[in-house]
Order: sequence, then structure tokens, then C-alpha cells
Amino acid sequence: MDSINFFKGYGKVNNPSENQQLQLQQISSQKALQRRRIILSASLAILLTIIVLALIGGLVHESATEPAEPEDELNDSGESLKTVCGVTQHLDSCINSISSLNDPPRSDPVHFFNLSLQVSLRELANLSSLPRTLISRSNDPKTESALKDCVNLFDDSLSQLKNSAELMKVGPGEKKMLLTEMKISDMQTWISAAMTDQETCLDGLDEMGSTVVDEVRVRVHKSNEYMSNSLAILNNLKDLVAKFGLKMP
Ligand SMILES: *[C@@H]1O[C@H](CO)[C@@H](O)[C@H](O)[C@H]1NC(C)=O
Ligand SMILES: *[C@@H]1O[C@H](CO)[C@@H](O)[C@H](O)[C@H]1NC(C)=O
Ligand SMILES: *[C@@H]1O[C@H](CO)[C@@H](O)[C@H](O)[C@H]1NC(C)=O
Repeated sequence: MDSINFFKGYGKVNNPSENQQLQLQQISSQKALQRRRIILSASLAILLTIIVLALIGGLVHESATEPAEPEDELNDSGESLKTVCGVTQHLDSCINSISSLNDPPRSDPVHFFNLSLQVSLRELANLSSLPRTLISRSNDPKTESALKDCVNLFDDSLSQLKNSAELMKVGPGEKKMLLTEMKISDMQTWISAAMTDQETCLDGLDEMGSTVVDEVRVRVHKSNEYMSNSLAILNNLKDLVAKFGLKMP
């Protein structure tokens, strides 16, 4: 019993009696509560002020930009491409790769998606011969095996992209391409699968210390970047089409 009291009292040796201390605690917790209330109402007031200011700012901004129709701004095909590529993680690679196709300007997100898909397809088609060339030059079995994996993964990746490009073609007997939910969802699946293939290849290459694979690694990175751009545009296609004041084809 004594030892329990000793422990209870431990640390309070210099404090007032327990009763007094309880009162003190109550008072200080009331004070803390008051303080919390004050802080809470102050933060609420600040929050409200911010919201009101944001609303005013939004109204002012809207009225300032109202005269410009969205389509006017987006009529410039450079601006359109910037807007479309704005949904990707690699703005520069998206803009540069698509504009390097030198396609006649057209302010249409679906068209830009199609171009981005062509970019991905071309890069991958060009890249897929590289591991084979390197295998014939390599004399390290481990490097060779990682490169062989990539050959198979590229083949699969390429067929996923080709299937996607096929869906973007105007079918026989169709006047124009119809971009259904089903087509969009299929392409999302296929491009994601193609990217996974590439990442699997990259993982295998990254495990190799060999400098032989450095070139492949850089190219696969680039190819994966292009696919990620295509996928991002596709994922945002509906919103982009609406933003351009167009209808889904
Ligand atoms: C875009 O602007 C050009 C002139 O700069 C005009 O001829 C064309 O009709 C415009 N296109 C749209 C869709 O507004
Ligand atoms: C294919 O890649 C090589 C670089 O390895 C490049 O020189 C060539 O221009 C590329 N071809 C195409 C069609 O992109
Ligand atoms: C997409 O590009 C391919 C190849 O250039 C073309 O055959 C097809 O008609 C295009 N589709 C659309 C919807 O623009």
C-alpha cells in the first residue's frame, strides 16, 4: 500500500495537495477549452474571408475573360496542342513529339490523341529492333537474357498499340469514326498493358550493370513517356472535347 501511494505521489512531491491540483487542472482545462474556442472561431473567420475573396476573385476573373470564347483561344493550333498536352506528365515531350509530325493544324483533341498514338507507335516500332541487334553483339548471357525478355515484351506492347490504332481508323462502310465508350475503354486497357510491358523490360535492364543496355534503357524511357502521354490524353479526352466546344465523334 505504501509503495502504491509512493508511486502515485511520485513526481508530485513538490506540487500542492491532490485536491488543489485537481482544481488547478479543471481551471486550466477550462482555459484550454476557451482558448480552443477562440482559435476555432478565428480560423473560421479567416476561412470565410478566404472563401469570399476567392469568390470575388473568381467573378472578377470570369468577367475579365468572358469576352474571349474558349474556341477563339483554342483556334490557334499551338495553343490547342498546349492545352491537350497540359493533361500529360511530360508537357514538352508531348508538344515536341506531336508537332514534329508536321501534321496540318487542327484544333481537335481527338485528332491530337490520334497523333500522340502514332508517335508512340512509331517510337516503339523503331525501338523494337534494338534489343535484337544488341543480342547479336553481346557475349554476356545475363544481358542477353534481359534483352530477350524485352524483345518479347516489345512484341506484345507493339500489338497492343497496333490494336489501339486500328480502333482509331474509319471502319469500312463508316462515314466517320465513331468513338464509343467501349473503344475508349479498350484503348485504355491496351495502352496501359503496353506501358506495363515496357516497365517490365526496364526493370530487367535496370538490374543489369552492363553499359550495353544503357542505350536501350534511355530509349525505353522515352517510349514509355510517349505512351504515358497518349494514355493521359485518352483519359481526359471527354473533358478536352467539351473544353474545345466539340462533341465526341
Ligand atoms: C480559326 O481562325 C481562322 C483564321 O485565323 C478561321 O479562318 C477559322 O475559321 C477559325 N476556325 C474556327 C474553328 O473558329
Ligand atoms: C529510329 O531510331 C534511330 C536511332 O536509333 C534514328 O536515327 C531514326 O531516325 C529512327 N527512325 C524513325 C523512323 O524514327
Ligand atoms: C488516325 O490516324 C490514322 C493514321 O494516320 C488514320 O488512318 C486515321 O484515320 C486517323 N483517325 C482519326 C479519327 O483521325
